[in-house]
Amino acid sequence: MPDMQTIRAQFPAIDGETVYLDSAATTQKPQVVIDCITDYYRNQNANVHRGSHSLTAMATTRFENAREAVARFINADSAKEIIWTRGATEALNLIAQTYARSTLKPGDEILVSEMEHHANIVPWQIVAEQTGAKVVKVPIGEQCQFDKNAFNSLVNSNTKIVAVAQVTNVTGTTLPIKDIVAMTRANSQAIVIVDGAQGIVHQPTDVQDLDADFYVFSGHKLYAPAGIGVLYGKLAILEAMPPWHGGGKMVEKVSFEGTTFSQLPGKFEAGTPNVAGALALACSIEWLGQYPNNELEQHIHQLQQLAFDGLSQLDDIEIIGFQPGASVITFVMEGVHHQDLATLLDQQNIAVRAGHHCAHPLMDALGVKGTVRASFAIYNSLEDVERFVAAVKKAVDML
Ligand code: ALA
Repeated sequence: MPDMQTIRAQFPAIDGETVYLDSAATTQKPQVVIDCITDYYRNQNANVHRGSHSLTAMATTRFENAREAVARFINADSAKEIIWTRGATEALNLIAQTYARSTLKPGDEILVSEMEHHANIVPWQIVAEQTGAKVVKVPIGEQCQFDKNAFNSLVNSNTKIVAVAQVTNVTGTTLPIKDIVAMTRANSQAIVIVDGAQGIVHQPTDVQDLDADFYVFSGHKLYAPAGIGVLYGKLAILEAMPPWHGGGKMVEKVSFEGTTFSQLPGKFEAGTPNVAGALALACSIEWLGQYPNNELEQHIHQLQQLAFDGLSQLDDIEIIGFQPGASVITFVMEGVHHQDLATLLDQQNIAVRAGHHCAHPLMDALGVKGTVRASFAIYNSLEDVERFVAAVKKAVDML
């Protein structure tokens, strides 16, 4: 892995002034990804899968090559299993409103872990309301771990869907996806859906090895722009699912007597897609591929450990659900609102996220209204963490 200076120089937003520790919310973008977007709009802008001129043919080829790159990245069996979406949230809503809405019956159960982001809770509540199914919570384990025994005791013949994160966004807990899939298959006929929004950037992901039925992620947490995301689904399931949004490209033939739909993946891609986003996501995947994942993760874990060591020295700071080897650290200060602490950090040019992190049920389970979360990425240095810890110490002294 090259030295930090070489890596940081690739990110125009990493200017040495602000310490950016909010990469779990969205990552900064390397120049190569920014250039990919600019180049598309300057030189190659055209719609895809429509028209017959050279520009559209070139854009379509690149767009489909990007899909192939994503399929290779997560080891999907076929690029037909890769559906472009606006992000992980849209992908989860797509599954809820197609697969789930067309198959769930009253009394069916959807198992969702208590640690989930709202995007992996609310779509299930909506479809449960529509179908008479029930959302069942898998309670959080001690130390903010996934409680396998609790989960196992909840899976039964009524379970039709299991929806879990690969890595959670507040504490960075890694869920045992392969065990979850095995326990689900042993006791039910449910499908397993994995929200990879926080996991994809930190864990090499092989969807065939995980063997979940669906896997979703967003581009913007993977150094790509916002507004592009991926729904991976097993081919047979995607083929059996009804379409969701109606419009251009997802149809084969439209008449007022009835409409027939495109083959995969077009069936789920109504309207003009985010072509630049897809190209930029493929570009970010290629760019990231030059760094060995183990070295990258070792670096990030070192940052997280340094933050833990530093914050642990501060009497008034309580670290919540620390997960060694994760990319985030979450904490509160006794008697002080998380937002006030984050504001004092912001005044010292430290960017962190404060609040409920779109995880109200987890906050309730932890007995807090909100927390401050620092999250680390490829461009963060040891000095960033030292500045962060010093800024927290100063804030604690002031409050
Ligand atoms: N889900 C993102 C986060 O955790 C936005 O900050």
